Amino acid sequence: MPIHLIYARSLDHCIGRDGGLPWRLPADFRHFKRTTLGHPIVMGRKTYGDHQSVLPGRTNVVLSRDPGFRGADGIVVRHDLEAALDEYGAGGRLAFVIGGAGVFSAAFPRAEAVIETIVRTEVPEGDVRVEAFDFAGWRSEKILEHGADERHAFAFEVWERKRP
Ligand SMILES: NC(=O)c1ccc[n+]([C@@H]2O[C@H](COP(=O)([O-])OP(=O)(O)OC[C@H]3O[C@@H](n4cnc5c(N)ncnc54)[C@H](OP(=O)(O)O)[C@@H]3O)[C@@H](O)[C@H]2O)c1
Repeated sequence: MPIHLIYARSLDHCIGRDGGLPWRLPADFRHFKRTTLGHPIVMGRKTYGDHQSVLPGRTNVVLSRDPGFRGADGIVVRHDLEAALDEYGAGGRLAFVIGGAGVFSAAFPRAEAVIETIVRTEVPEGDVRVEAFDFAGWRSEKILEHGADERHAFAFEVWERKRP
């Protein structure tokens, strides 16, 4: 059951600021859409709160520990990450974990791939940081450098867990 993590982070591992993204990178949005389209996406309630809408063409699974939480029509609410990953990453289906920080950390041990966008800037004022994962025993599949998109240059890097 493949689980892939996907995120954009700064050099100092920032992924969020004031409830949103610290940057606007249209080429990264396109990469995110192209990569995740057609697959379930699993996210924390605050990540859902950032965009407040259903991302089309994907089953949107929103995690909350609040039994009373209800999202917009079209949102699937689940209260347990492991169970959600069992449900949506099962049977050879690919599911993407799209944030935020705690969800990435909790899902990392089950991830077969991590798709990073590394934004070549630092965001010291950022308030959400993704863990600096230990990729020992993983291989980096490809790196694509982009020139400055709006204000920042960035690279896509795909990590895959090595099979024994
Ligand atoms: N740069 C990127 O690629 C990227 C990606 C994603 C998000 N972000 C940014 O990161 C920020 C949001 O991330 P965040 O880390 O603050 O929050 P988050 O992970 O999106 O949401 C946290 C909430 O999710 C629920 N939750 C988390 N783990 C759970 C579990 N194991 N079981 C059940 N519910 C669980 C809880 O909701 P309840 O409180 O309702 O119980 C928790 O308070 C925003 O600024 C967003 O823009 C950036």
